[in-house]
Amino acid sequence: MPVPMLDLSIQNQAVKQQVLEGIAGLIDRSSFILGENVRGLEAEIAAYAGAQHAVGMSSGTDAQLVALMALDVKAGDEVIVPSFTFFATAGVVARLGAKPVFVDLDPASFNTTGALVEAAITPKTKAIMPVHLFGQVADMPAICEAAAQFGIPVVEDACQSMGAKGWGKHAGQFGEMTAFSFYPTKNLGAFGDAGLTIIRDDAALAARVRRLRVHGMEPVYMHHEVGINGRLDEMQALVLRAKLAMLEGWHEGRRKHAAWYHQRLAAIDGQGVVLPKEIVPDGRHIYNQFTLRVKDGNRDALQAHLKDLGIGSAIYYPICLHEQPCFADLGYKQGQFPESEKAAAEVLSIPVYPEMSEGMLEEVAKGIEGFFKG
Ligand SMILES: Cc1ncc(COP(=O)(O)O)c(C=O)c1O
Repeated sequence: MPVPMLDLSIQNQAVKQQVLEGIAGLIDRSSFILGENVRGLEAEIAAYAGAQHAVGMSSGTDAQLVALMALDVKAGDEVIVPSFTFFATAGVVARLGAKPVFVDLDPASFNTTGALVEAAITPKTKAIMPVHLFGQVADMPAICEAAAQFGIPVVEDACQSMGAKGWGKHAGQFGEMTAFSFYPTKNLGAFGDAGLTIIRDDAALAARVRRLRVHGMEPVYMHHEVGINGRLDEMQALVLRAKLAMLEGWHEGRRKHAAWYHQRLAAIDGQGVVLPKEIVPDGRHIYNQFTLRVKDGNRDALQAHLKDLGIGSAIYYPICLHEQPCFADLGYKQGQFPESEKAAAEVLSIPVYPEMSEGMLEEVAKGIEGFFKG
């Protein structure tokens, strides 16, 4: 039985009727931008994530970009970001003319730590942007403590982790601002690009983010500063509102599958592969990805073996950001972030989406086991 890396059609069927009716209403009203669905979604996600303010954005990338713009990040500034993450985390820093300052990771979680961040702080550090990679919250109490010592704001990149928890709090309740992505592969995915910035408690910062989203404009045609067109449209917002009602069930489905893999693959954990670990106290990993480390240089061969069996898998991410050609002028060297580079060589994400049957999980587990048994 083939097992795709992700099959969105089942969850999309679950909201299809509601979405079609919603779109019919939108066509009747012909109001497509920043309307009642965007406002409704903002209120619902602020409540869901335990933040005071939420601003719907056109993508997770723009949600990060606008957060940094609201902190006046500009040329000459530094922003601390992990090297092992999706490109956007550092791309938005560079787009503002600032310098991404990369940090390494904790091999147990793939996330950066308070100590690594603290060691990278300089007088030029304008912001710190930790990432909650794969669905697990980063070392936020220690990161926020390091930041607070120097009065540096923290922007959480929770693009993969809306609904994740740690230390009894939601992703988004640690930093001044947080970016979420609703790219279709996220646990809460739109029918295209979409994102959202939450602002924990600062009303003035929230007003600025809101204004930056529409070219720095307030009221209409009065531009206080140069912003972007980062608006979320009504159609995406109504899709997301329909899906939000099901999100907790989907998170729990992914967690159930992760627990299943842990039990089923226990015998090879630490042998051929290392299974992902939940290391955060009082937390909840939402498994946007279930990411193995494949030891002994076997990653690509295991992926090819699974592909031959019709089993999907993915490599997030094969190249660290400090090794990307576009950042060559920053002067980073190969070997500078050994744990990040090791992760890039070892990671393999396997299917974990909530609609998988036990038979599909078994197929994946058998495929992995078979590779090592030969
Ligand atoms: C860690 C991380 N940061 C930022 C982004 C950017 O989000 P988007 O693709 O919605 O622009 C993503 C999404 O892929 C992500 O995974």
